[in-house]
Amino acid sequence: MKVVTTREELRTARAALGGVGLVPTMGFLHDGHLSLVSRAKAENAAAAVSIFVNPTQFGPTEDLEAYPRDLDHDLDVLERAGTDLVWTPRVEDVYPAGFDTYVTPGGVADVLEGARRPGHFRGVATVVSILFHLVAPQRAYFGQKDAQQVAVIRQMVRDLGLPVEVVACPIVREQDGLAMSSRNTYLSDEDRPAALVLSRALRAADRAWTAGERDADALRAIMRGILAEEPRAQVDYVSVADPGSLTELSTVDAAVGALASLAVRVGRPRLIDNLVLAPR
Ligand code: PAJ
Repeated sequence: MKVVTTREELRTARAALGGVGLVPTMGFLHDGHLSLVSRAKAENAAAAVSIFVNPTQFGPTEDLEAYPRDLDHDLDVLERAGTDLVWTPRVEDVYPAGFDTYVTPGGVADVLEGARRPGHFRGVATVVSILFHLVAPQRAYFGQKDAQQVAVIRQMVRDLGLPVEVVACPIVREQDGLAMSSRNTYLSDEDRPAALVLSRALRAADRAWTAGERDADALRAIMRGILAEEPRAQVDYVSVADPGSLTELSTVDAAVGALASLAVRVGRPRLIDNLVLAPR
């Protein structure tokens, strides 16, 4: 496994590889990240991973400085997963001095996470387009955990004609249903069981959907009802949206389905989770 830092080192190491599957990450890797690495490894001649806590996607009051980091652990698990190339840039390797060019996504970035975190998806789209240009992967792997991120990147790839196939991978969960996330490390022992309320609410919506409920407000109310039972949970949003545009629905078309998604603060961390109400 080759580990590189500068753009020049990356260019040299990249040139020695065939078709690359890229997994962009911010590190502090868990089994959710590693599921993407396995897919990249299985479907491409080489698997590359970037580890970069991207400052441009954090708001001024967000957890950039406190974001968890453990590079030794990350390199260890990536080595064991058979990763071929790891890029661990410094800020100046991604954003050279005087950097002043951004990718600004459109409407799909304005709702849900984008509405609560202004500028977040501009930072994500900018860093991912830099990664795509410097690593030149044939495929790039993203988790459905961040469903809106997948939608924003798919739109960017289409609009800019980037020669990369975007692959979305299923959410990896703990045995009890909690979606894996680097931010779960902020959950206190008391908050950890309370965090199960997110997946419980989503599963209840899915059951109602499967039983024939098509009214989006009714589906949202089912999720809100379950979230309200957990006093440690502070709801940010509950959404039933079109799976492509992410605009809120009033009625869900059975042939199209919907994305049910949640953002909920449980103690310190703000957690997100989602579930696709699959077409029927
Ligand atoms: P990060 O939060 O480190 O996540 C890296 C990738 O892992 C993302 O595609 C995310 O959706 C995926 N992932 C996280 N938890 C997952 C889970 N439980 N199951 C499946 N996949 C999961 O997302 C980012 O970093 C950044 O925004 C990035 C794309 C790297 C740009 O900076």
